[in-house]
Amino acid sequence: MEGPVRGEILVFSDLEELSHMAASFLSCIAGTSIASQGRFTLAISGGSTPKRLYFLLGTEYREKVQWDRTEVFWVDERCVPAGLEESNYKSARELFLSKVPVKEGNIHRIRGEFPPEQEALRYEEEIRACFGSPGIPVFDLIILGMGQDGHTASLFPGSGPLKETGRLAVPVHLQRPETPERITLTLPVLNNAAHVLFLVSGPSKAGVIRDILEDKDKRDHYPAGLVNPAQGDLTWLIDREAASKLRQRH
Ligand code: 6PG
Repeated sequence: MEGPVRGEILVFSDLEELSHMAASFLSCIAGTSIASQGRFTLAISGGSTPKRLYFLLGTEYREKVQWDRTEVFWVDERCVPAGLEESNYKSARELFLSKVPVKEGNIHRIRGEFPPEQEALRYEEEIRACFGSPGIPVFDLIILGMGQDGHTASLFPGSGPLKETGRLAVPVHLQRPETPERITLTLPVLNNAAHVLFLVSGPSKAGVIRDILEDKDKRDHYPAGLVNPAQGDLTWLIDREAASKLRQRH
């Protein structure tokens, strides 16, 4: 019988301490993945929370990952040209990809400038080609954030992409006007990862974090609450503010 809490929960005093743990966690998984299978497959999210982690990967932790054996994918992307501020690719490129010796051919950018449906299909083929299997890929590590509404990746509450079970990547048409469309990995991909690492920071997330981590009747209302790797590990790195409404000590 599954307990009230899914995964491991680690609480940190602030985002800085959380980000160092995330970098250390990534370095460790990279090392074991490369030792056992010769490469490390990583999928990263956008948003603001992981930016400090990405900065650390390009600086203090630069030498702690075998970047030449690392394949980098995106969990999601905004359908904008790579040069725009909203681009998750641009952010990662500036923060660490431009500072580490990852091979260009191992950077699997979602091409936001292409028509979303076409690009989602192309990205899926690129993923399949890299993993060399027709099934659902097993990413060694997927880094996820969580929005105030409990979304993760670009899987929003009640959205169609949340129910996708066959495809690896799909386009996302947001209801909000003036916001760019997106492309996202689907829940089956997230739930097939060997390790999923959530990074959640700030008081605005505290209520949803409490629901997801401590209220199994509410957990599944949120896309982030549906992430529960069948064969993999799930770890929540949250700061004290995001943990402020948790009833149990972690
Ligand atoms: C994105 C992310 C998205 C993000 C959450 C949290 O591309 O924006 O995939 O799911 O992780 O919106 O964003 P913050 O870290 O900025 O709160």
